[in-house]
This record gives sequence, structure tokens and C-alpha cells, in this order.
Amino acid sequence: MILITGASGQLASMVAERARQNGLAVIRASRSPDADRQMDFDQPDTLDFSGVDTLLLTSAGYAEDDVVMRRHGAVLAAASAEGVKHIIYTSLSKASHHLGFALAHRWTERQIMASGMDWTILRNGLYAELIGALAAPGRDGRITSPFGNGGISAVARGDLAEAAVAVLSDPAAHAGRCYELSGMKAFSVPELAARIGCPYEPASLEAERTRLAALPLLPFQAPMLLSICSAAAAGFLQTEASDLETLVPQPQDAFAVACAAANSARMT
Ligand SMILES: NC(=O)c1ccc[n+]([C@@H]2O[C@H](COP(=O)([O-])OP(=O)(O)OC[C@H]3O[C@@H](n4cnc5c(N)ncnc54)[C@H](OP(=O)(O)O)[C@@H]3O)[C@@H](O)[C@H]2O)c1
Repeated sequence: MILITGASGQLASMVAERARQNGLAVIRASRSPDADRQMDFDQPDTLDFSGVDTLLLTSAGYAEDDVVMRRHGAVLAAASAEGVKHIIYTSLSKASHHLGFALAHRWTERQIMASGMDWTILRNGLYAELIGALAAPGRDGRITSPFGNGGISAVARGDLAEAAVAVLSDPAAHAGRCYELSGMKAFSVPELAARIGCPYEPASLEAERTRLAALPLLPFQAPMLLSICSAAAAGFLQTEASDLETLVPQPQDAFAVACAAANSARMT
């Protein structure tokens, strides 16, 4: 039996739905009352992996590093104790290594590889939907997010869901593999601005930090967001190294997905 965590979320809900459409039996786990198995990574008593052979651990990354590592560590301990044979983890691409939230992913990968369970790591690139939303024009119609001119090898979330389903369909064939799942063609925010017809006038990182400080964000969120801009501007989010087409024969046009997301998040 397959169990999928984070199944109320945008990525894992797609994975669960597509896996079921492909005839796979899956248990959808999350904190939501609608889940097949209610599971809270912050409550170790709820981590029930009985009857589970294959676990898709969707990262629960919206928190400080120590919280994320504690959550993932608790899941791995419970999964190992309850006899899970194969763990598949949604990690972060190598191109994203400089992002503020990469550390907890790399720590989790290390724990998984040392766990004694079979494993597959899905090193997901940044979602095209996320880049589009972060680069959305403000009320004055300008895009000011400080992404610089660097390329971003973002990838449609739906493609990452399809990649996960490909692995879930035959986990043994993917044991010991670490897949880099960045988009096949990078795009930059200046290109996105030109495509959606908005002026691109990037603020400084300092001005962006000041703007974010005035928003009702949690303390970890501003550095997390700024690190994405900073890494893009420095050219670190572009990569030619992607295994996406190994798992997803016909990936979506990530640039088009990002432009659609920027348009729908456009402030009016
Ligand atoms: N590659 C990227 O660009 C990118 C961008 C953003 C996030 N991410 C990472 O990828 C993950 C999946 O992305 P997504 O778009 O599906 O995010 P999402 O829609 O926000 O879903 C996050 C999921 O994590 C679960 N979760 C959070 N805290 C939890 C906890 N303490 N115990 C159990 N479950 C918990 C939530 O479930 P409940 O609240 O229902 O329990 C939810 O199902 C995120 O959680 C994040 O780590 C990647």
C-alpha cells in the first residue's frame, strides 16, 4: 500500500488523484479532517504507517529549519519502525542549493539515505506557479520584485506530480535514484514582464526587505522569499541539468505557466 503525506496540498493532492486514476491504491494523509489517515508531523503519536510499503513524503517546508528537520525526522523514525520499505521524498533541486530553505531538504535527504529503507529523491525545481506569483505586477502595473536578469529553470507543479506518479507506479525501478526535476528551458523575469506587457523595474534587495517587513509574514518567510530573488539575480537558479523528461515525456511550457500565474496574481 502507498501512503502520500501532504495530500491536502497542491502538489500531493494532484499526485494522489493521478495515482488513483492510474489504478494505484493510495492512502491520503494530512492534518485535514478529509484525509484517509489524519497525520500531524508535529504530533508523533499520529504518525501511523501500519500496512504501508511505499511512502511519498511531501516536504512540510513552511517553517524554520529546526521545525522542518524535527518533523521530517519524526516521520522517518516512525516509517522505519513500522516497516515501510521504500520512501520517496519531494526535495529541492541542486540549482536551488543557495536558497535559504535548502538546508532542511539536504538534511532530510541525508537521513533518508542512511535510514536503511529503499529511497528515491525527487529534487523538485521551483514551481513556475510560484515564480509567476512572486513576479506579479503591483497595483501600478510595474513588476518590482528583485529577480535581476537571471534565468530560472522553474517547472510546472503538474509535471512534478506526474514525475512522482511515475515513480510510485514502480518504486523498485527507481530505488537509489536522485532525480533533478528542473524545467527544461529557463526564463527570466524580464522575459516574463515583456510577455505579459508590464514594465520591469526591480527594486533593491533592501527595498524589498523593507516592503516585506511591513507585511503580516512569519519571521522565516521574508528571508525565504528574498533568497529566491537573490539566487535568481546571481544566476544560480538556471540549470541545464534536468532529468524531467526521463519521468515526464512531454513537460508543460513552464514559461507559459508562470506568465498565467503572474497574470492571475496581478493586483487590480
Ligand atoms: N518547489 C517549490 O517551488 C516549492 C514551493 C513551495 C513549497 N514547496 C515545498 O513543497 C511542499 C509541497 O508543495 P505544495 O505546493 O503542495 O504546498 P501546499 O499546498 O502548501 O501543501 C503543503 C502540505 O504540507 C502539509 N503539512 C504542513 N505542515 C504539516 C504538518 N505539521 N504535518 C503534516 N502535514 C503538514 C499540509 O497539510 P495539512 O495542512 O492539511 O496538514 C499540506 O498538505 C511544500 O510543503 C513545501 O515544503 C516547494
